[in-house]
Amino acid sequence: MRIVKIGGGVIPHLDAFREYLKGDIYIHGASDYVDEICRRAGVEVKRFRSVSGIEFRYTPREVLEYYVMGVMWANKELVSYLHRIGINAIGISGVDLALIKAKRKRIVKIVDGGKKRVLRDDHSGKIEEIDKGVIKALMEIGVPVIASLALGEEYVPLNVDGDTLASKIAAAFHADELLFLSDSAFLKEGSVVPEIPVEKVEEYIEHSSGGMRRKLKMAEEAIRSGVGRVIIQGLNGRTVIR
Ligand SMILES: Nc1ncnc2c1ncn2[C@@H]1O[C@H](COP(=O)(O)OP(=O)(O)O)[C@@H](O)[C@H]1O
Ligand SMILES: [Mg+2]
Repeated sequence: MRIVKIGGGVIPHLDAFREYLKGDIYIHGASDYVDEICRRAGVEVKRFRSVSGIEFRYTPREVLEYYVMGVMWANKELVSYLHRIGINAIGISGVDLALIKAKRKRIVKIVDGGKKRVLRDDHSGKIEEIDKGVIKALMEIGVPVIASLALGEEYVPLNVDGDTLASKIAAAFHADELLFLSDSAFLKEGSVVPEIPVEKVEEYIEHSSGGMRRKLKMAEEAIRSGVGRVIIQGLNGRTVIR
């Protein structure tokens, strides 16, 4: 079984990734779409770095609505494209059928301008539960395309990271392969690293930042949970982690 995570930045360029698009379950992000909606609405986009060095989108209540719009916009673009290439895709978010349940992170510790501080109004969630039964039921009628939203315990939608969600779904299904389609494979000193053994991931994390840092962490977690291999496929090449 292959789980494919499609970065928000990849969705407008699916033609270029066409040979890698075959999957059993798709998960996608939406960064560029959310940023575009915020830009049109005149809402400022903020990203912060957590104390553990992971970058994330700050989603206070007034940004959450734009997040939901952006992620569903991305979902429908992706589903439309998959139909064009003959894949009977069905788009769904983690909120629907309570597919993904999450707990809102009430306190998020960040480093801002070299100083530690705390965010209390972020609407990002920690994934608590994935309903495999719902995914399997969907697979009976089509190919699920899951948007990175979760149902919060307060019954509001929450922003969940797409790479994290993909890693957890791949683990839940003991997938043979988790394929990340992203703008770039893993680079060290400007060159693609073709292979990273799982024991070495921590070393390589030091050579990354932003979204790639999280991707490596999630790749490591997936493999430690029984996923066969993780591939980060960019247009510049691929990195295989196993
Ligand atoms: N060592 C690295 N190799 C490749 N990309 C890196 C590295 N370190 C940081 N990055 C950044 O990580 C980005 C990929 O992560 P992200 O933007 O979150 O993509 P996705 O939408 O696939 O989740 C790259 O575009 C690049 O800016
Ligand atoms: Mg990302």
